[in-house]
Amino acid sequence: MNIIFLGPPGVGKGTQSRRLSECLGVPIVASGDMFREVRQTDSSLAREIRGYMDRGEYVPDGLTIKMVLNRLQQPDAMVGFILDGFPRTVPQAEALDEKLETDGRRIDHVILLEAPQNVILERLLGRWICSNCGRIYNRGSSSPQAPDTCAHCGAPLVRRTDEDPEVQRYRLEVFQRETAPMVEYYQSQGRLERVNAARPVDEVSAGIKQIVDGAVPA
Ligand code: AP5
Repeated sequence: MNIIFLGPPGVGKGTQSRRLSECLGVPIVASGDMFREVRQTDSSLAREIRGYMDRGEYVPDGLTIKMVLNRLQQPDAMVGFILDGFPRTVPQAEALDEKLETDGRRIDHVILLEAPQNVILERLLGRWICSNCGRIYNRGSSSPQAPDTCAHCGAPLVRRTDEDPEVQRYRLEVFQRETAPMVEYYQSQGRLERVNAARPVDEVSAGIKQIVDGAVPA
């Protein structure tokens, strides 16, 4: 099954992608994670990507499309994939559709996670990630019991470099400006399925599961 998760920064795409990936046994293709890997290298490309990400801007379409479409050609993604954070612009969505059509594949579900901005900002303020396996945690005021280390692998939790509150707000603005037309692209084709992501994690997962299960042939 091939699924796209859309939604603003901090709405819970990474959290839900991980849960659904474990349930369906398909890989997550997360453009943000891929860029975070590249930016750790010592190259001019890494420096360029660091600049875009730390300012909260999108990486240019050409580079992003090439990187993600190449990843979708890997053998593990042939059985299915969950796209987290890609596409984000109309050219990215069109390039994805074209490539999948050429390959005789298609997207089964385009799922938009939605939550009010105050909920999102609260989540972003409390987000910590595992420095080793990338698992996502929240250590905000609503989760005082959250651990200092990863419950899965024991590594320390760290903050992302784009978690500065000013950058977070800017990333939300960029999402509205750049990604709203792409949401309309899927909406106008009757392909968009919306999930209220302002609810607790388990309830959001249940909403997503309903959508995904609805497509499983009897
Ligand atoms: P990326 O890494 O993709 O970031 P993002 O899309 O901005 O989304 P986030 O990862 O910030 O949030 P999320 O929705 O995954 O939420 P999460 O699950 O972590 O992109 C980073 C950068 O890379 C971009 O700014 C850009 O520069 C570049 N980039 C990436 N893709 C690109 C593309 N296609 N084109 C161009 N540039 C691109 O959850 C957030 C927090 O909330 C966590 O603490 C979590 O524990 C908590 N939480 C989650 N769900 C719930 C819930 N239901 N209730 C309570 N807490 C919750």
